[in-house]
Amino acid sequence: MKALILAGGKGSRLRPLTFTRSKQLLPVAGRPLLHYAVDAVRQAGCSDVGVIVGHTGAEIRASLGDGSALGVRITCIEQEEPLGLAHALLKAQDFVGDAPFLMFLGDNLLQGSLAPMVQRHLAEKNAATLLLARVPDPQRFGVVQVQGERVIRLEEKPKHPASDLALTGIYLLDGRIFDAARTLRPSARGELEITDALQVLVDRGEPVVATEVQGWWKDTGKPQDLLAANRLLLAKGSRIDPSAVLTCELRHPVYVGPGARVQGGRIGPNAAIGAGAQLKQATIEDSILMDQCQVQGVQLSQSLIGQGARVSGHGAARLHLGDQCLVELK
Ligand code: DAU
Repeated sequence: MKALILAGGKGSRLRPLTFTRSKQLLPVAGRPLLHYAVDAVRQAGCSDVGVIVGHTGAEIRASLGDGSALGVRITCIEQEEPLGLAHALLKAQDFVGDAPFLMFLGDNLLQGSLAPMVQRHLAEKNAATLLLARVPDPQRFGVVQVQGERVIRLEEKPKHPASDLALTGIYLLDGRIFDAARTLRPSARGELEITDALQVLVDRGEPVVATEVQGWWKDTGKPQDLLAANRLLLAKGSRIDPSAVLTCELRHPVYVGPGARVQGGRIGPNAAIGAGAQLKQATIEDSILMDQCQVQGVQLSQSLIGQGARVSGHGAARLHLGDQCLVELK
């Protein structure tokens, strides 16, 4: 079975970091988000993977290569403008063909196997098998109403959600979705919505079924989601590159990348320190520090520090800094 990963879009809710880099390549527990998505589709049995890319395509191609390092074959597919998930899907029709396929949003993280859901989709020959999660804030998501396991209504980011069941961004589909997507008009936010394409399938009486996620799932749309994902992935255990030099207090779990140097202070719990970062007398917890950043003296928690950014001074702070930023706390 083929997989399609969506890695275009604007990433506007993660600015300033996404001014200079692709949202799907933000590092969580030491790896780009997109690499976890590739792992998930490979583990679901897909080795032929199409990746939708937009204006950050060059960066994404450089990170994935031909896919062999991640155990898959990658084909990048251009979407010139981020006109919606169903628009991206239509761009991939030639790659996917008519057979059942897995669509996975490149900013989603999932723990647990998709294999049982895949088996079911194939055995039941459903038009769509959707992975759902119960969430406290359904207004942020596509929301689904079900009768038993059958989906009867879907709505994208409703003001008054009819249920707490959110679409996770992991969909098993087949060729029938293309026909449905071609009937769509842009939504109020100007996009061709996958949610609307799925509703077309439901209205046509096609089998659209849902299954609830086991384990955890995260949409990393906002800074606090990235930090939550970082905690969940670090919970599997610390990883410290042998070339990192640490002379500091350590509270597990942490990730420390190649060539990082941490002198004095403390890192952890839940600190991910990128390659080549340099920390002196700093206290870092529950934060992601990207490659080559420099932090001196301060205490950071719930912070996202971009590549090559420099922070120094005294006292505690919570910072979301883009690449190459400079902050001096007096
Ligand atoms: O994460 C789950 C949610 O994902 C679902 O509950 C929603 O129903 C679904 O519409 C989607 O909502 P988001 O607002 O989170 O979608 P976002 O714009 O963040 O795009 C999701 C991914 O798809 C992201 O990796 C960027 C990529 N993308 C997005 C658009 C709009 C594309 O590749 N092309 C696009 O045109």
